[in-house]
Amino acid sequence: MIQKDCSSITPPYAKLLEKLGLVRELLNNRPLTLAEKILYSHLNDPEKNLSGGKIRGETYLQLRPQRVAMQDASAQMALLQFMSAGLSQCAVPTSIHCDHLIQAVDGAVPDLERSIMSNKEVFDFLESAARKYGIEFWKPGSGIIHQIVLENYAAPGMLMLGTDSHTPNAGGLGLLAIGVGGADAVDAMTGTPWELKAPQVIGIHLTGQLNGWATPKDLILHLAGRLTVRGGTGRILEYFGPGVASQSCTGLATVANMGAEVGATTSTFPYTANMRAYLHATGRGPVARAADEAAANGFLSGDPGAEYDEVIEINLSELEPTINGPFTPDLATPLSKFGAFVKENGWKNELSASLIGSCTNSSYEDMTKVAEIAEQAKTVGLTTKVPFLCTPGSEQIRATMERDGITGTLQDVGAVVLANACGPCIGQWKREDLKGEENAILTSFNRNFKSRNDGNRHTMNFLASPTIVTAMAFSGELSFNPATDFITLPNGESFKFSPPSGQDLPSKGFALGNKDYYPPPMPEPQPEIEVIIKNGSQRLELLEPFPDHFGPQNSRGLELPPLKVLMRVRGKCTTDHISAAGPWLKYKGHLTNISENLLITAVNDEGGDVNVAFDHNHDISQPESDSIPNIAKRLKSRNQPWALIVDDNYGEGSAREHAALQPRFYGCAMIVARSFARIHETNLKKQGVLPLWFADKTDYSRIGSGDIVETLGLADLLNGDQSVVIKLRVIKRDGQIFEIPTKHTMSTDQLNWFKAGSALNFIRSQMV
Ligand code: F3S
Repeated sequence: MIQKDCSSITPPYAKLLEKLGLVRELLNNRPLTLAEKILYSHLNDPEKNLSGGKIRGETYLQLRPQRVAMQDASAQMALLQFMSAGLSQCAVPTSIHCDHLIQAVDGAVPDLERSIMSNKEVFDFLESAARKYGIEFWKPGSGIIHQIVLENYAAPGMLMLGTDSHTPNAGGLGLLAIGVGGADAVDAMTGTPWELKAPQVIGIHLTGQLNGWATPKDLILHLAGRLTVRGGTGRILEYFGPGVASQSCTGLATVANMGAEVGATTSTFPYTANMRAYLHATGRGPVARAADEAAANGFLSGDPGAEYDEVIEINLSELEPTINGPFTPDLATPLSKFGAFVKENGWKNELSASLIGSCTNSSYEDMTKVAEIAEQAKTVGLTTKVPFLCTPGSEQIRATMERDGITGTLQDVGAVVLANACGPCIGQWKREDLKGEENAILTSFNRNFKSRNDGNRHTMNFLASPTIVTAMAFSGELSFNPATDFITLPNGESFKFSPPSGQDLPSKGFALGNKDYYPPPMPEPQPEIEVIIKNGSQRLELLEPFPDHFGPQNSRGLELPPLKVLMRVRGKCTTDHISAAGPWLKYKGHLTNISENLLITAVNDEGGDVNVAFDHNHDISQPESDSIPNIAKRLKSRNQPWALIVDDNYGEGSAREHAALQPRFYGCAMIVARSFARIHETNLKKQGVLPLWFADKTDYSRIGSGDIVETLGLADLLNGDQSVVIKLRVIKRDGQIFEIPTKHTMSTDQLNWFKAGSALNFIRSQMV
């Protein structure tokens, strides 16, 4: 393993420790959890954030993340937004990883060639933008974002953002890595403090020792069953206790990766000798030595006596392999009860495919364990009974597997090795069998929502450790328990697997493989490069800055111009309702095209129909009712800014910034809600849409489509009067006029964004 240039990847521990000293003073030297130490030492201004009352679960923190990583699907809009900010380079080290757009069909080489051709314009765009702005570009085939981050960028005690929900995987090296939307990544890339409500901290106290077939994957599968898919929301999972040190660094990464499945902000662990060994094995000795010193100064673990918001006890010695699913990652069944569970549900006792690898489970340790299983099977003449697919997480893992004979062993028993990419984990699996039929697959991945892997909503995806997934591929039966059951061999003898021991790090060191896959660290920006967007592209489109709301066409000064109400949205309206996924994903970099899906699954409270809105000023050539995007387009073509009236928790779900960009693109200036989901509310503010809350929730039903609403008091707020109550003057279609009070959550910074038309406009205005 080549020693890496660590100058841009070693956290500035001296500065972090200095800030931590200030934090301790502000908090009267109370003991801190590790999560608090890392978060608070990355505050932009500790005095501003920590001088009030309760912090965890209450206070909004403005943070300075040290690094950003983006995958190829989400990087498109993030980069387009970054470009429209007008900066010449990123404010923090940033990397792009081409992994989501590679489709698995029949093996690594042809799949990669085909996917590069079919996504060429997107990869060309990403690469040219990377060169222009000094971003490290990991080309298709180099590996999966989270594995590459763990191998190259993650370092104990750092705070980083990634535009993918499994970014917390990097927490295996004892840091805070948080999955965000593109607009949040752009905050860090433009040097704007990134805001996060201080999460609560759950302490997971690990005792005992994993044994037999149990692996770190089983720890998180078990915990998902206890916490459920919502149990970690707004919380960081901080593991501590004697059971941490015995886990490999990559095993901890698996645990951190799937913290996303319980909704946790992220997961972390105190610095261990195994983390140090992993840093050395991956060519980062200087980072390990700096981390040793930071740990000696009390930075990389929680303080004795630190208080957690909740503590969960887990005795690793009692854990058995666990299988989770189908269709939700928190339906956990211990392996010993899984056969009965299958029977109770009346499912066929048949496995249709086994898949290992992905960002969750493709470490050297995982691969040596599955190779041991395969070797045992090979020795007795067994091959897998079902398709057995393996996705290496990175070129480094692929090359090391090949050198050490692991790939050969897996192929000997029937494995197909796929490209180093997400592939079947994200639905990029061109599966030809069992289309539309109920069937069961077993994977070592992290998510198992309907249709996620092969697009078939009847495919039941059960999640397990790679060793269980592999062993069961030789039986072909869902009820097979490799810890207790025998397989009958062709000669009539019985065969039973022994639990594999694996090896966490390669004794010959990691092989790097194809050196072309490794970008130079911190490349110099090349301002002369033109970012490539193909003429007439249907997948990519430059973003035009949004105009502010207070131009010459608005005679109301700093009040919004009169807004037409587009519709009143009824009930649950997630970011998926506002900007649907599925086939629309290919337009993630093209705002005009993706906006055609605006609110297409939202329910109109006036009539109860989905994707129906009304145009009360339609001309004779147009119908009065039409799809929501079509009515929004009509208003835009008339230069008529508009407002939406929405229900409770509007915008819950993901951090998808398209859900804020799209209404703004069509001319939405204000959304009035019974309540907002916080991340979406912030995204609206970033894009220059005013989010207001009904002071009296019953006012929701007093405003309908075609009404005109005018703000009263917004000008005072924008002029600095934080105490003002913004009212809405509502002019009904029948001429009736009334006023209603609202509430807002706009901070001073956010008011600046709004005045400028968007956060990016404001950032750009600060550059000149
Ligand atoms: Fe890719 Fe699946 Fe991980 S989509 S980033 S391998 S969760």
